[in-house]
Amino acid sequence: MKVKLNVKRFDPEKGSRVYFQKYEVDMDDQATVLDALIHVREYVDPTLAFRCSCRSAICGSCGMRINGMAGLGCKTKIFQVAPNGEEINVEPMGNMKVLRDLIVDMGMFWDKIRAVEPWLQPTGPEPEREHIVPNQAMIDLTVAMNCIMCGSCVSDCTVMEVDKSFLGPAALAKAYRFVDDPRDGHTEERIEKYSKPGGIWDCTHCYFCVQVCPKDVAPMDRILDIREAALNAGIKNNNGSRHSDSFANSVKISGWLDEGRLAVESHGYTNIPELLPLIPVGLRVMMAGKMPSPIHHKRPGSKYVKQLFEKLEG
Ligand code: SF4
Ligand code: SF4
Ligand code: FES
Repeated sequence: MKVKLNVKRFDPEKGSRVYFQKYEVDMDDQATVLDALIHVREYVDPTLAFRCSCRSAICGSCGMRINGMAGLGCKTKIFQVAPNGEEINVEPMGNMKVLRDLIVDMGMFWDKIRAVEPWLQPTGPEPEREHIVPNQAMIDLTVAMNCIMCGSCVSDCTVMEVDKSFLGPAALAKAYRFVDDPRDGHTEERIEKYSKPGGIWDCTHCYFCVQVCPKDVAPMDRILDIREAALNAGIKNNNGSRHSDSFANSVKISGWLDEGRLAVESHGYTNIPELLPLIPVGLRVMMAGKMPSPIHHKRPGSKYVKQLFEKLEG
């Protein structure tokens, strides 16, 4: 099978020019993108730089963007991405600094993982031998534990693209692994910490991390799990939680979203002087013709929406 690769190249030692280089190689039908890159490096161009180790989707080192989506080179079969012999675009992962060709600097990735304190912090007396927990209590954790730290979710996270302070999908999926571990003694402190700006409430549910994760960790779902834990624990003194409550309340009462109320309630303002910082935002909204009506009418049938809420609330 003929494989056409179009690989993004960058070598700071030879000037900072970024360019695409095309390669054409003959590969087996079952070959992966990584196999093709290794073939290129072995037989065509020894200067091509990329990371890999296990070639079995275990070590997490071959994260890259293939046809615009992050993933593992060793898990992506050629026939999946180029069924009719199309050219395959291969680029380094996003949201991380490129060091050379397909190799990125993972420093920021590890800093964020470290920031969630990814180690058990039990309290109480040390057990004589080990902490025993029922199997059932660990089942939920196994999903988050599948993470191989490949960085694909971070590469394609749309929030990290614009906000470097966001902890991001990989770190927050790891955070969940400890929030939900019955042996950990600092669950509430952890949730408080992850609820701060840059944490769980900054995810915009774009779903990219779920789509690209090669190990089905579904980081966004893990973020939603921590949010649920935060709400259940009554950790609500933050914009995200207030936003969620206000959203639900306005739909419950009127059958649809009251955008004006949402903006005010999300910030937790309680009096007129506290509302003053919102004035410039309000003016911009008004000039853009997006100001919601100050009178928020109920939608026809809103009583049925309310009934649904009441049923769910039990
Ligand atoms: S769902 Fe959230 S964490 Fe996942 S990629 Fe989108 S913004 Fe990032
Ligand atoms: S959550 Fe998935 S995509 Fe993100 S680092 Fe872990 S394995 Fe990779
Ligand atoms: S080489 Fe180890 S995950 Fe791809």
